[in-house]
Amino acid sequence: MTAHVICEANLSRIVVALLLCTRCVQIYAGIGAEVDLNVEGSGFHRTLIYRIHFENLTQDGCRVAIYMELPSALYVNTDEIAEMRRRGTNMVCSVGETDVELFAEKAGRQNVTTCASISSSFSSLTIPVHQRYRYAHETGGYINVTLLEPKLLLGCRERVRDHRVSKIDLCEPCVSLMTKWREIPYRMSQNREYVWPIPVGDLSLSLFVTCATLLTTIIGAIFIGHAIWSNAGQSHPKED
Ligand SMILES: *[C@@H]1O[C@H](CO)[C@@H](O)[C@H](O)[C@H]1NC(C)=O
Ligand SMILES: *[C@@H]1O[C@H](CO)[C@@H](O)[C@H](O)[C@H]1NC(C)=O
Ligand SMILES: *[C@@H]1O[C@H](CO)[C@@H](O)[C@H](O)[C@H]1NC(C)=O
Repeated sequence: MTAHVICEANLSRIVVALLLCTRCVQIYAGIGAEVDLNVEGSGFHRTLIYRIHFENLTQDGCRVAIYMELPSALYVNTDEIAEMRRRGTNMVCSVGETDVELFAEKAGRQNVTTCASISSSFSSLTIPVHQRYRYAHETGGYINVTLLEPKLLLGCRERVRDHRVSKIDLCEPCVSLMTKWREIPYRMSQNREYVWPIPVGDLSLSLFVTCATLLTTIIGAIFIGHAIWSNAGQSHPKED
């Protein structure tokens, strides 16, 4: 009989402990973030501005990084971002293709990282992105290039609960800002993926353009030739 009571008491203790535990988990819920993407510009050169607001971030002195794999149709100019780093305006680095002249079809891809400090759980990160030229196609028109969702990373001095250390290869100098970077799940406040329509030259027009150019060149040449001839014809009698 007494054994039964003790057992029941133990059981209720276990239940209480379990309840407390789930409460603990709730209290120490992981860090999350809300990300807002703004794109400035609409032509070949655009600026991606990510505004990040962390939730449940209690440590001070953490750094944030955004990592993305650009499609070969887009690129960051390594000279431009090096200049930005020198001036201290923006920390952006990349690995991969460095030739800005290449057409999209010939170019390699780039993995881009940008990083910054966080103040009051907020940070803003900027990446200047450019569009590569494409070869003309039979039909022309547009193709849609989609900017995939980037990865959001957090680097803190102390351990961050519930977030494992990331295996993503961030580039220098961002990677050295912190010894450990952790991926943080986030919500986008608007569109999750940014679609960038890229105009494609029309090959069927190119024959027309070539003929028209040739024709105007020939007409121009005949006109100039005629002018020179008639001038020459007029100047002869004067010499006599
Ligand atoms: C932040 O913590 C609260 C509880 O304090 C929790 O309800 C919320 O889900 C947490 N946010 C995220 C993104 O985990
Ligand atoms: C970019 O990252 C991906 C995935 O980690 C990798 O497969 C690819 O080789 C990287 N590209 C460059 C140019 O380093
Ligand atoms: C590109 O996306 C726009 C909407 O963003 C759509 O109207 C258009 O049809 C798409 N074009 C192609 C070629 O997929």
